[in-house]
Amino acid sequence: MRMYDLIEKKKHGESLEREEIRRMIRGFTAGEIPDYQMAAMLMAIYFKGMDEEEITGLTLEMAASGDMVDLSGIEGIKVDKHSTGGVGDKTTLVIGPLVASLGVKVAKMSGRGLGHTGGTIDKLESIPGFQTAIPKERFFEIVNQTGIAVVGQSGNMVPADKKLYALRDVTATVDSIPLIASSIMSKKLAAGSDGIVLDVKTGSGAFMKDMEDAIALAKEMVSIGTKAGRSCCALITDMDVPLGRAIGNAMEVREAVETLKGRGPEDLTEVCLWLAAHMLYLAGKGEPDACYHMAQKALEDGSGLKTLAAMVEAQGGDPAYVLEPERWERAAFSCEVKAMKDGFITRIDTEACGIASVMLGAGRSRKEDSLDYSAGICLHKKYGDFVKDGDVIAVLYGAGENLFDNASKKLLSAYTIGSEAPEKKQLIYGRVTKDEVVRF
Ligand code: URA
Repeated sequence: MRMYDLIEKKKHGESLEREEIRRMIRGFTAGEIPDYQMAAMLMAIYFKGMDEEEITGLTLEMAASGDMVDLSGIEGIKVDKHSTGGVGDKTTLVIGPLVASLGVKVAKMSGRGLGHTGGTIDKLESIPGFQTAIPKERFFEIVNQTGIAVVGQSGNMVPADKKLYALRDVTATVDSIPLIASSIMSKKLAAGSDGIVLDVKTGSGAFMKDMEDAIALAKEMVSIGTKAGRSCCALITDMDVPLGRAIGNAMEVREAVETLKGRGPEDLTEVCLWLAAHMLYLAGKGEPDACYHMAQKALEDGSGLKTLAAMVEAQGGDPAYVLEPERWERAAFSCEVKAMKDGFITRIDTEACGIASVMLGAGRSRKEDSLDYSAGICLHKKYGDFVKDGDVIAVLYGAGENLFDNASKKLLSAYTIGSEAPEKKQLIYGRVTKDEVVRF
């Protein structure tokens, strides 16, 4: 088998055999297949697609390209959650502790920010002392003791995805359902949990801008997870508006803490409770509605917050930052962004909000950039709100006043103000299980 023949095959829309996929992934990971041939294959997949058997085969071969984590040293059922990426998405920091406080183990491997979207590891590292690189034995010990630990992916997990993702990023082949599904699910399968809840985002801040594409991606991922012997379901959630009000690492941790105290923004709280409910459901704790109420109780009685503080302490962080949020240092400078006319906010370009936060230092423009944890944006007005000319719609935070000129222009451009009140948006559009797609 030559790589040339496989590219030729896919170019004509034919299916690749499992053995062909195996050799291709092994050869590429080992550096025997050059980037230019893999780039041609990625583009052929982008245009011709892959059938279910091919996508499952690709995912399993990618998962097996490096270390597969064996979580059997952790007692009980382990459930993971994955979000396809968003702006202001701090759900893991709320849901993980909530679910763990209810007896379901969360042994989570998370990522850093990517493009305009944030990452859980960056957010957690904004807590002074918090360690995200800890030895496996200690990781297991913390999960057994506190119910949850969140670490970065080990160096040799799914190396095939690391190489493929970097190539997709520069060959305009990121937004392909077979490639996104295999990329995400290979990492989830390698991470070893028994159950996986997928939060598939749709809207202007998501990779899947369109609802039908989001459902197709969710179906594909649930099918892969199920075939690999994991229990798996997906919620399709809104990312047409940033989630909550805070965008930026330390600001998002504080908002997650407020949410665990029952004082968080309504949209964030609701999405977190439903995602937590589905993690509990996959762990066999009951039907989703009953699990929603269990999660709500863990939020109201403070057990979720207590579990977050215990996890922070176990991972070397100072729990006072969770229990007394006034400890956080504010950014050195701030700047108000004001509405330029009266009207209703009819649209927020969520990707542009994410880009504005990166301009302030909350995310990376280049891989080697360091982050300013206290930088970010607080959205005072959101979709559907009425504003008057001169009202503050957002406050920007950063290390220097020079950052505000471009970032405030970007943020202002993200807001559309119109004369008519827009329709109320749904937060959760549907649920995908192995048996059905339910649209809400
Ligand atoms: N997140 C991933 O991990 N992979 C993709 O391809 C897209 C989003």
